[in-house]
Amino acid sequence: MSATTYPNYSPGLEGVIAGITTTSDISSEESRLIYRGYDVHDLASKGTFEQTAYLLLYGKLPNRSELDAFEKTLKDEREVPKEVHDALRALPKDTHPMDICKVGFAVVAPFDPDYAAPATDQAANLRKAVRIVAKASTIIGNGHRIRSGQEPLATKKEHTVAQNFLYLITGKDPDAETAHVLDSSLTLYAEHGFNASTFACRVTVATLSDIYSGIVTGIGTLRGPLHGGANEEAMKMILEIGTPDKAEAWIRDALATKKKIMGFGHREYKKRDPRAIYMTKVGKELCEKKGQTQWSKIADILEHVMETEKGIYPNVDFPAAYAYYVLGFPIDLYTPIFVMARVSGWSAHVLEQLANNRLIRPACIYEGPHSATWVPIEQR
Ligand SMILES: CC(C)(COP(=O)(O)OP(=O)(O)OC[C@H]1O[C@@H](n2cnc3c(N)ncnc32)[C@H](O)[C@@H]1OP(=O)(O)O)[C@@H](O)C(=O)NCCC(=O)NCCS
Repeated sequence: MSATTYPNYSPGLEGVIAGITTTSDISSEESRLIYRGYDVHDLASKGTFEQTAYLLLYGKLPNRSELDAFEKTLKDEREVPKEVHDALRALPKDTHPMDICKVGFAVVAPFDPDYAAPATDQAANLRKAVRIVAKASTIIGNGHRIRSGQEPLATKKEHTVAQNFLYLITGKDPDAETAHVLDSSLTLYAEHGFNASTFACRVTVATLSDIYSGIVTGIGTLRGPLHGGANEEAMKMILEIGTPDKAEAWIRDALATKKKIMGFGHREYKKRDPRAIYMTKVGKELCEKKGQTQWSKIADILEHVMETEKGIYPNVDFPAAYAYYVLGFPIDLYTPIFVMARVSGWSAHVLEQLANNRLIRPACIYEGPHSATWVPIEQR
C-alpha cells in the first residue's frame, strides 16, 4: 500500500489536531491571533511583554500588585551564574548565537534551585518558567558580548526585559521608542499554538523530561529558516536587493526560478498574518523616523508582487527583519530575539502539557523491505 492510500496520513502533519490548548488561537479566515482570549494587537499596542508573559504563564492578565511582584521576580532572577559565562567563553568565536542560546540554557539548568524537583511538580515548573523568561535576555545579550570579545555586563534592576537586552547589546540605557519597538515585537513573537518548536518542546516534556530540556529542544527547532530563522534570511534578502529600484526585477526573477521568499507565507494563515499587520506598521514607521525608507520601499514592492503574483502575504518575520535592522541588531541575533520572547509561550505549553500529560508518540508508514535475508558479513 502506498503512503497516499492511508486516509489519516498528512505530510508535515498539516491539518492534524495534535492536542488541546488554552494558550492561543489562530483564526486564518479573520487573520486574528489571540492569547488566552486577548487580541495580540491589543497586547502589543497597549500592554508590555511582561504582562504578556504573565498572561501566558498564569492564565490571566495581572492586576497592579501581581504585575509589580512578577516584574520584581524577573529582575531578581535576571543574572546567570558565572559558570554560564565561562561555558560561553569556551565556545569557538564563530558559534552561532542560537547555539550560544542552547548552551546557555543547558548550563544554567543545574543551577536552578528547583533542579531536583520531579518533572510533574507544577509549582516548581512555574518557578523555573519564570526564571527562564527572566534569564533569556541576559543569556542572549551577554552571550553576544562574549562572542564579540567583550566582557559580560552586570544587569540593571530598573530595566524591563527589552531594555535589559538593548543595554547588554549596546552598553547604553536605551531610549523609550527603541525599547517599545522591541517590546511590542516580543509580545508578537511570544506564542503561536502548535508551531514546530512548541510542538517539539511538548514532545520533549511529555516523556517527563524537564522544562529546560524542553526549552533547549525548542531553540534547536526554532533555528531553521522555515521557522524562526526566516527573519534572518529575510533581511539578508533585502540587503542583497539593496535598493528599491532593483526590487521588482529581483522578486520576479526569484519567483520565476521557484525560489522560496523568506518572510512570506504561513502554514496557518492563508490570508494575512495578524502579527505581520501590526509589525509592518511599527517597522515602516521606524524606517520613516530613522530616515531609512529604502528598506520599507523594498518591502512595499516585494509585498505587492507576492500578493498579486502568488496571493501570498508577509509573515511576522518579514517586517521584524527590517525593524531589527534599523534598530541596529546584528542579523544573526534576530532568531535569538525570537527565543527571548517565545520562552514564555514554550513554558506555558510545558505547564499545560504536564497538567494533563500523555506521551506523544505518533505512528508512521513503513515503506522498507519486509523479508530481507541475512547475509554473513564476509559475503556482502
Ligand atoms: C512557512 C512555510 C514553510 C509554510 O509552508 P507550507 O504550508 O508547507 O506551504 P508550502 O511550502 O507547501 O507552499 C504552498 C505553495 O505556496 C508557495 N509558497 C509558500 N510560501 C512561499 C514563499 N515564501 N515564497 C514563494 N512561494 C511560496 C509554495 O511554493 C507552494 O507553491 P506550489 O503549490 O506552486 O508548489 C512556507 O510558506 C515558507 O517556506 N515560507 C518561507 C519561510 C518563512 O518565512 N518561514 C517563517 C514562517 S512564520
